[in-house]
Amino acid sequence: MERSCNAVKVTDNVYWVGAVDWAVRNFHGYLTHRGTTYNAYLVLADKVALIDTVKPAFADEMMSRIASVVDPGTIQYVVSNHSEMDHSGSLPQTVAAVRPEQILASKQGAKALGRHFHMDSEITVVGDGDSLDLGNMTLAFATTPMCHWPDSMVSYLHEAELLFSQDAFGMHLASGERFADELDRHVLEHEATKYYANILMHLSKFIHKALDKLGGLNLPLKIVAPDHGPIWRTEEDIAWITAAYARWADQAPTHKAVVVYDTMWGSTGRMARAVADGLIAGGAKVRLMPMGACHRSDVVTELLEAGALVVGSPTMNNQLFPAVADVMTYIKGLRPKNLVGGAFGSYGWSGEAARDLHAMLVEMGVRTVAEPLGVCYVPDEAALVECHQLGAAIAEAMKTDTTS
Ligand code: FEO
Repeated sequence: MERSCNAVKVTDNVYWVGAVDWAVRNFHGYLTHRGTTYNAYLVLADKVALIDTVKPAFADEMMSRIASVVDPGTIQYVVSNHSEMDHSGSLPQTVAAVRPEQILASKQGAKALGRHFHMDSEITVVGDGDSLDLGNMTLAFATTPMCHWPDSMVSYLHEAELLFSQDAFGMHLASGERFADELDRHVLEHEATKYYANILMHLSKFIHKALDKLGGLNLPLKIVAPDHGPIWRTEEDIAWITAAYARWADQAPTHKAVVVYDTMWGSTGRMARAVADGLIAGGAKVRLMPMGACHRSDVVTELLEAGALVVGSPTMNNQLFPAVADVMTYIKGLRPKNLVGGAFGSYGWSGEAARDLHAMLVEMGVRTVAEPLGVCYVPDEAALVECHQLGAAIAEAMKTDTTS
């Protein structure tokens, strides 16, 4: 059944029927500079099941891929592992088109789908220990709350030893290839790290719980099929991504310092460079991130495996500079852990920014090593030496807190 969009075989009886979004660059505030995919999967067992759907704009593409391997009207079950609209957005159209016998979701998923779509269709609630008999294959379910939303669950296809892991183990990466082992390793690892940092970092304790739960089930894993990005199908790749999740969830600090700042007339920028020099002199690895040139989502990617957060802002209208306020709001929400840090900034007369940044760092649980460092107008050599000393003091504090 050749179609304009075709399904891709994942393994016997399992097909990828999702969509590649090459154009998306803003994923609720996350710069998806390599696009993304919305992965849906079709299980062609005796009874046919669709696992998740795609973002609404791609519903026709998904239906075309399904129709390339089976009459969509034969789909008996639609499983919604996660109700966020990038995966459930096409559910109403799909249900209207295929009229499945059952739609299955977790208890929280059933509530969320009801509140999103206000559909008449009943949703069958499934949870830990429940399974779905597909005749010659069996799907089992496990809830993984807050990985990424309260409703999140995973589905396991016993006969294929395949985990449909929804957002977990995914990444925002558009590609023509469907499998991780077909892609550039550096790109893959960077995008997986960026995805964890921006989507899951603040949920690390739930990631630990999910890893423990899945580990306790002792399920053999030949394939891990997430809802975004490539599918993991080699032993090495599955070992890498699961170990990376355990490491990222720990957020053990390293000897890398992230210096984030913006500047108005160049003074806070000069201070930032002097702080960075002090950090380097103290033996730290440094990522200097001017917000005029960096995106917030790249800042938190660097922070995921860092040991220090140092932030600088000029004072403007008695406030933080807007780009610094933006990135600090974003960082605070993602709750990085195990950081030391400090605040600095230039001012003209009132000087709130460095003090406000310092207070924010303390509120976020960052261990500050010095009072906020403010410089009136333009730093002279003595002020720049103070900035260097701030960097060196933070590097020294990192030595007692870091693992590598
Ligand atoms: Fe990809 Fe939480 O949705």
